[in-house]
Amino acid sequence: MIVNNLTLCYQGKVILAPMVRVGTLPMRLLALDYGADIVYCEELIDIKMLQCKRVVNEVLDTIDFVAPNERVIFRTCERERNKVVFQMGSADAERALAVARLVENDVAGIDINMGCPKEYSTKGGMGAALLSDPDKIEKILSTLVKGICKPVTCKIRILPSLEDTLNLVKRIERTGVAAIAVHGRKKEERPQHPVHCDIIKAIAEAVSIPVIANGGSHDHIKVYADLEAFRQVTSASSVMVGRAAMWNPSIFRKEGLQPLEKIMQEYIKYAVRYENHYTNTKYCLCQMLREQLETPQGKKLHAAQSSQEIWRQYPPQITPKMCLLEWCRKEKLAQPVYETVQRPVDRLFRSVVTVSEHKYCSALWDKSKKLAEQAAAIVCLRSLGLPEGKLDDAQSPLMHKRKVEERELCQDRENEETLPGGAPHKKPHLTLGTTNHSILSRP
Ligand code: FNR
Repeated sequence: MIVNNLTLCYQGKVILAPMVRVGTLPMRLLALDYGADIVYCEELIDIKMLQCKRVVNEVLDTIDFVAPNERVIFRTCERERNKVVFQMGSADAERALAVARLVENDVAGIDINMGCPKEYSTKGGMGAALLSDPDKIEKILSTLVKGICKPVTCKIRILPSLEDTLNLVKRIERTGVAAIAVHGRKKEERPQHPVHCDIIKAIAEAVSIPVIANGGSHDHIKVYADLEAFRQVTSASSVMVGRAAMWNPSIFRKEGLQPLEKIMQEYIKYAVRYENHYTNTKYCLCQMLREQLETPQGKKLHAAQSSQEIWRQYPPQITPKMCLLEWCRKEKLAQPVYETVQRPVDRLFRSVVTVSEHKYCSALWDKSKKLAEQAAAIVCLRSLGLPEGKLDDAQSPLMHKRKVEERELCQDRENEETLPGGAPHKKPHLTLGTTNHSILSRP
């Protein structure tokens, strides 16, 4: 086995747990943005994966594993290649190996789920059903360890007796796995039952491979500092977070939680960027809004029947860049490429966006790289006669915030006119434009 120490050494790491429907690409990227070291995908069943073809998606810049009915079962991208662990549901060593070989070059590691207590998993001999079949566990894990080059891990629940639990983890350790994640509950126990920190601790003391402590979201993990406290109380190498991250992925942020409204906007940005299915987007947003689902905003979200209906409720994420990206996708063009320069004299930025071999650039300079890219996108959209974004709710606080940003931008640009060196250098194929009244509202 070649353990990729750099990418998958579990010491002191904070990890996004595998979660069905939650652990898709937008949530994984958001967790990474906020400081998660490793992210797990949702559990994907071996039989389903075996029907998939690996497709390089040049429009989205992703790798897709696509089922015969064209559904994307697993989507990943370069950004997470050394961070994402592919979790699989399997009860068969050869099938597990075939799936692992299919995905191994695109992921950091492979995990076998042995903790799912749901019938759909256990009736096929997968998930928690494996816990009572250590021979099968050994076969699956040792086949994977021998058969692939990436680290192999597994995620278990604890057994009714400590002795059986310790015997099981020692047997698992002997297969050569890189780490064991332990959800410190028995298979009959529900998420609201207390997690058995003492058993995770006993496991961590009984084996020498890293143990990843899991199960603390409800009682132990509310803020970032709780992650280390949970790690210490369980003597584990690292901590895996499920529900607390699903409720607010900025739990991984050292400086503290970010407001939900901001998180939801960022989530939607990724959902749009990576064409996440709207039912999945809606599910994840509802999990974040969980206590506010009865509010008018929550009810509206719950009633949403399309991605567009979801976006309309959270307008700030519909930026010119996103409009341009959407249009390129529709037109089957390569995605826009932004090149930004900073001018030394006043540290302002200007970006050039290339779309279909044509370059577009604002004549004005901006105070941040982000604004400069949006300005370039606006010039492009206007030149092509395309809409720049949709705003429905002119009265919302978000809209107010946007207007403030917009005013700041205009002021900066007025100042900019008086600065030296602002004159654009015109190139033959470069379209220049100004965006002086707003980069974020429609004309
Ligand atoms: C889960 N869990 C889970 N576990 C797993 O190994 N594979 C999976 O696909 C899922 N799916 C899943 C979906 C949802 C909606 C929830 C809430 C949970 C279990 C999860 O990874 C974790 O073990 C538990 O939630 C306990 O950890 P926390 O939530 O206390 O941090």
